[in-house]
Amino acid sequence: MKKKNYLKKFSLNGKVAIVIGGYGLMGYEISKALSDAGAKVAILDIHAIKKKKIRNSYFIKFNCKNYKNFKNELLKIKKKVGFPSIYVNASYPASKDWASNTFEKVTLDSYKENIDIHLNSFTFMAKIFADFLKFSKKKGSIVQISSTYGLVAQNMNVYEGTNARNNMTYPIIKGGITHFSKQLASYYGKHEIRVNNICPGGIEGKFKATNKNFDKNFSKKYKQHTLLKRFCRPDDVATAALFLASDASSYITGTNLIVDGGWTAI
Ligand SMILES: NC(=O)c1ccc[n+]([C@@H]2O[C@H](COP(=O)([O-])OP(=O)(O)OC[C@H]3O[C@@H](n4cnc5c(N)ncnc54)[C@H](O)[C@@H]3O)[C@@H](O)[C@H]2O)c1
Repeated sequence: MKKKNYLKKFSLNGKVAIVIGGYGLMGYEISKALSDAGAKVAILDIHAIKKKKIRNSYFIKFNCKNYKNFKNELLKIKKKVGFPSIYVNASYPASKDWASNTFEKVTLDSYKENIDIHLNSFTFMAKIFADFLKFSKKKGSIVQISSTYGLVAQNMNVYEGTNARNNMTYPIIKGGITHFSKQLASYYGKHEIRVNNICPGGIEGKFKATNKNFDKNFSKKYKQHTLLKRFCRPDDVATAALFLASDASSYITGTNLIVDGGWTAI
């Protein structure tokens, strides 16, 4: 009997991957992991960054606000890079007043804008990509970067007395993305298109909304609440994305891979 080489299941040789938000904290490490595994990577982001260029990567300027025109980007990628069969969305679209999406300050206009640019772009672009595969009779893998806050609420005990804020809109966005992936997986499964979420826990650094560094109190309380006593790291998410993108996860669809150091286990 021929011996199996399980490491080959993680190989992305000959494949083309798209990473939306591929120059972000997580997106960059995900793009790097996919490239290391052999894929050509089309990085779609609103702007390039001055980090080291990732081997076999191609930058395409794209704003998720224009999600309705995503099919045109797919045609561009097909021509410039090759036919994409892997799609990861690690973008973080947000309005200028994202910080004011607290229960105390949120306005209906800002709430609606963020639902549109974040939730609607994540769902519609994934659907457009799934259709692109389906009509081309190709199989593929879709990975949506959701969040633990698409599964559980912010634990206000951890937030109180720190410089971290509540957010009314974020759990709606991430909850919607998390559940929609199951619906997408259900509809496109018969076309061998897999759809999964990664739900990362918090990554240490700056708050997206306020651009302020976490204060010591928040860092301490957050870490204390995880079972592994540390924040998530972008490379923790990158390896999870590689697993879900590759044939190593060939029988996994419609699920959440929770990368949170045990935050949601208790
Ligand atoms: N940082 C965390 O603690 C954390 C935890 C759990 C989940 N998440 C989720 O993970 C994803 C990535 O988060 P991150 O921390 O890497 O964010 P980040 O801000 O570091 O990176 C996001 C990337 O998306 C790009 N982007 C923003 N708006 C865009 C737009 N309109 N069009 C195209 N590209 C756009 C940015 O330029 C950036 O490169 C997000 O969806 C976020 O909600 C983050």
